[in-house]
Amino acid sequence: MRSQAELQELLSGMTVEEKIGQLVELNAEFFIKSASEVTGPNTSFGLREEDLSTIGSTLNFSGAKEMREIQSEHLERDRNKIPMLFAMDVIHGYKTLYPIPLAMGCSFDPELMRECCRMAAAEASAAGVHLTFAPMLDLCREPRWGRVMETCGEDAYLNSVMGVAQVEGYQGDSLSDEGSIAASVKHLAGYGGAESGRDYNTVEISEHTLREFYLPAYKACIDAGAKLVMPSFNNLGGLPSTANPWIMRKILREEWGYDGLVVSDYAAINELMRHGVAEDLRACAVLAFENQCDVEMMSAAYYKHLASLIEEGVFTEEQLDRSVMRMLKLKNELGLFDDPYHKASEEKESELFYCEKHRETVRRAAEESAVLLKNDGVLPFSEDIKKIAVIGPLRDTGELNGFWTCCGDKSYAVSVTEGIRSLIPNAEIFGVDGVSCTIGDNDTSGIEEAVRVAKSAEAVVLCVGESQEYSGEARCLVDISLTPSQCELVRRVSEANRNTAVLLFNGRPMVLSGISDSAHAILDMFYPGTEAGNAAADLLFGRANPSGKLSMSFPKHVGQIPVYYNRTLTGRPKRRADDSYERYTSGYMDCGILPLYFFGEGLSYTEFVYESMALDRSEMRPDETLRVSVTLRNAGQRDGKEVVQLYLHDLVSSTVRPIQELVAFEKVLLKAGERRTVTFEIREDMLRLWSFEGKHISEKGDFTVSVGYADHMHFTEKFRLI
Ligand code: NOJ
Repeated sequence: MRSQAELQELLSGMTVEEKIGQLVELNAEFFIKSASEVTGPNTSFGLREEDLSTIGSTLNFSGAKEMREIQSEHLERDRNKIPMLFAMDVIHGYKTLYPIPLAMGCSFDPELMRECCRMAAAEASAAGVHLTFAPMLDLCREPRWGRVMETCGEDAYLNSVMGVAQVEGYQGDSLSDEGSIAASVKHLAGYGGAESGRDYNTVEISEHTLREFYLPAYKACIDAGAKLVMPSFNNLGGLPSTANPWIMRKILREEWGYDGLVVSDYAAINELMRHGVAEDLRACAVLAFENQCDVEMMSAAYYKHLASLIEEGVFTEEQLDRSVMRMLKLKNELGLFDDPYHKASEEKESELFYCEKHRETVRRAAEESAVLLKNDGVLPFSEDIKKIAVIGPLRDTGELNGFWTCCGDKSYAVSVTEGIRSLIPNAEIFGVDGVSCTIGDNDTSGIEEAVRVAKSAEAVVLCVGESQEYSGEARCLVDISLTPSQCELVRRVSEANRNTAVLLFNGRPMVLSGISDSAHAILDMFYPGTEAGNAAADLLFGRANPSGKLSMSFPKHVGQIPVYYNRTLTGRPKRRADDSYERYTSGYMDCGILPLYFFGEGLSYTEFVYESMALDRSEMRPDETLRVSVTLRNAGQRDGKEVVQLYLHDLVSSTVRPIQELVAFEKVLLKAGERRTVTFEIREDMLRLWSFEGKHISEKGDFTVSVGYADHMHFTEKFRLI
C-alpha cells in the first residue's frame, strides 16, 4: 500500500494530460490490439495511440487472461506505472448466476444476499474485475420499466437493507483482500421513477417523495462504505443528474459528506447535448466536472476539453487533482500498486467458476426467493409420480438468467426439464411448448396437443412467463400482462389436468389476472439463474418449501400503475373491505385500487398462525426503545420459513404519511409444530418523517404498529411517542 504522501508525490509528478487520462474510462476493446486495429476505436474518440497509456480505467473485458495482457502492456507504456482499474457490471453473479435482484428482494434474506455477492466478487476478482457497477438502488414502482429487474423492489427499507448487504458482500472486510471488489451506488437519483416506465425518460418526483422513499437506499449504501457513485441518466427536476448540482453537490457531497469517486454512466456526459443543456462537448465537460463527476465513461468531453478548460481558468488544477486523487486512493485501497492484477488468474477462474459450492449457493438463493402466489393443494407434487409433463415455452431453456448475465454462459444453466429429470430420474418426462412467449404471437394452434399431453400425465408443470429479452436496460413494455396465448394455454391445460402447477419466469411484476382464477397453483421464480431447473424441481416436489415474499406489488390491471403498498393517505380514501367502487372516494369505476398480489405476500407448504403481538410499553420517549413481541406457530406438517414483517403508521403528523410502512423484518425457520416469539425494537429514528421544512424529524403523538403484510395485518396496536 502507498502512503498518502506517496500518492501525493505521484500526483505531483504527473502532467495535466496524464491526470486527465486517469479520469477517462473506456471499453476494453480500445486496449485490445486486434480489436483496435480492426475497428479503430481510437479514431472515433480522437484518441492518439500514445494517449492510451494514460487512461485510468476500463470496462467490459473477457477475463483474467485479457486483463493481465492489457494491464501488463499498459504498465510497460505508462511512465507513471499507475495500474488501470478494471470494471464490469456484476449484477447478479459473474459466471455462476443467482436470481435477479428483484427476486433476491423477495428472499427477504440479507445474509443470503451478502453470501451471493461475496461469491460473485470471488469469481469476478479471479477474472480481473476490480469494481462492479452495483448495487443498483433505484426504488421502483413502475413494472413497465425494463430495469425493474435490477432493483430490490418498491420499498425503501428493503432496498436499503439489501443494498447494504450487497456492498458488504462485494467489498468484504478490505478491498485489498483476494476476492473483494469495489461497489458502486447507482443510479443517483430516482432513475426508477422514469415517467411512463420508459427507460432514460424524465423523472418527476417531488423533493419530499425523493427524500422519503427514493434516497434512503443510496444513502444507506454510502454510509456502509460503497466506494463509488454513478449519477443517473435521467433529468431530475430540470437537469440530468450528471449535471445536476442539487443532487450531485448539495445532497451527495455536502449533506451526505461523500468524498469518494463519482463515475458517469455510459456516454452520459456526451448526452448532455442530447438533453439540450449543453451546446457542445466542451460545455458538457464544464457541466459534469463542475458537479464533481470525476470520471467520464465512454465519451470524450474530458479527454478533449479538460486541459484547455484548466488553461483558460474555468477549472483549477486543484480541482483536477482532487478527482485524480480519488482515483489513486481507490486503486491504492485495492492494493493495485502492489499487485496490479489483484491476484487474478486463469487457474483461480477454473477453480471457482460454476464450482459445486457456488452452484449450491445460487440454488439455495433461487429456492429462497421463489414466491408461491397460489396453491389449491396441488403443490408439492409427490416424488412417486411416474409421468410428468413439462409444458410451455420456457420448459426446456437455459435462458432463465435475466438480462445482466455478465459472463454467465447459458450452456451451464439448468432448464426446468433437466432439473426435474435429475430429481426424479425414474419418471417418464415429456412435454411440448404449446405456444410461444413472444409478444404479439397469438398462435394457439399448439394448445390442442398440449392438452392431449397434459391428459396423459399424472402431473403437469406449466412453464410460462416472459422471455428474458423483455426486461433489462431499454426493455420497457406498455403491457405487462401474461400474453393472451399463454393465458389460454394455462386455462386449457389446467382444465385438462387438475394436477397442474404454473411455474412463472419473469423480470418484472406481471399482470396475472388472465390466469389467477384458472391456475391451480402459481410459483413465481422470476429469473432464478444458473440453477433454475434444480431449484424449480426442489420446490415443485417439496424438497424445498417456498418462503419468498413479493418485493413488489403485482397489479390487477396495467391502468393501476403505479400501485404500491405504502401509498399515502388521501382525503377521500376507499373504505370498502372488498375494494369495490364507492363514489367520491379515490378509486376507479372499473377496477379496484388494490393489487392482485401484494407486497410482502407469499404462501408456504405449511401454515403459519400468528398467535399474539405484545408491546412492552404503550408510550416511549425519543431515547427509549419499544419492544414488540410477535408469537407465531408453524401449524402445518412441514418445516418452513416465514418472514415476520413489522409495519408502522403515524396517525397524525405534519406531512401526509403512508398508510403502512415496513420498518423491520426477520426470516425465521420453524419446524412443524414449533412456536416462536420474534422480538423487534422500535427506536425513535424509525418514526421519523421529512417535514415540510425539509427536516428529518419524529413528531410526538400516536402511531400504530402492525404485523402481517401489506393490507393484511394480523395484529395492530397503538403506542405514543412522548
Ligand atoms: C449503462 C447502465 O445504465 C449502467 O447501469 C451500467 O453500469 C453502464 N451502462 C455500464 O455498463
